[in-house]
Amino acid sequence: MDFNTVIQNRYSCRAFAAQEIEPEKVERILEAGRIAPTAVNKQPVHIWALTHPDTLEAVKGVTRSYYGAPLILVVGCRPADAWVRRYDGKNGAEVDAAIVATYLMLAAENAGLATLWVGSFDPALLADLLPGTEGYDLVAIINVGYPADGSVPSAMHGSRVSMEEFVTRLD
Ligand SMILES: Cc1cc2nc3c(=O)[nH]c(=O)nc-3n(C[C@H](O)[C@H](O)[C@H](O)COP(=O)(O)O)c2cc1C
Repeated sequence: MDFNTVIQNRYSCRAFAAQEIEPEKVERILEAGRIAPTAVNKQPVHIWALTHPDTLEAVKGVTRSYYGAPLILVVGCRPADAWVRRYDGKNGAEVDAAIVATYLMLAAENAGLATLWVGSFDPALLADLLPGTEGYDLVAIINVGYPADGSVPSAMHGSRVSMEEFVTRLD
């Protein structure tokens, strides 16, 4: 798909079909996340890919934003492994995780799938569902799946600040 079409088509999907995702599409999405850039190439990001029905059911206990996606990608980052800016000590892990999550979403869109980034979840309860989360901050739950019939963007999708507000041009 043309890149502009990918970014124009993406919207937050809140109604997923039960249809399974082809394994090669899942691999393509994960590969996009794996090769995303990170600060100083530290790669402090890890993905937990959830497809088991029991685990997906359990996700309902950690967030109110679960809409039946058959694939959930939890994006976590480990600050201890990340680049730290020497000037102010800012840790880059969360920025790296956000880039990876964005790559995952756009790769899914490119594969004809829909996504929803969920940030509103209980991180302690989510960590309880996953192995090997020690030292990780869980940043995002990326829902992935085919959109249900009749799925449409919310009103917020069409609401953005103007270009004038968005950009300060110092020509
Ligand atoms: C960091 C982040 C956290 C978000 N958390 C949630 C969430 O917890 N629940 C939800 O329904 N949508 C969530 N969203 C989706 C936003 O509400 C959505 O991206 C925004 O309203 C713009 O709509 P659009 O994605 O359809 O263009 C989140 C998006 C981002 C980027």
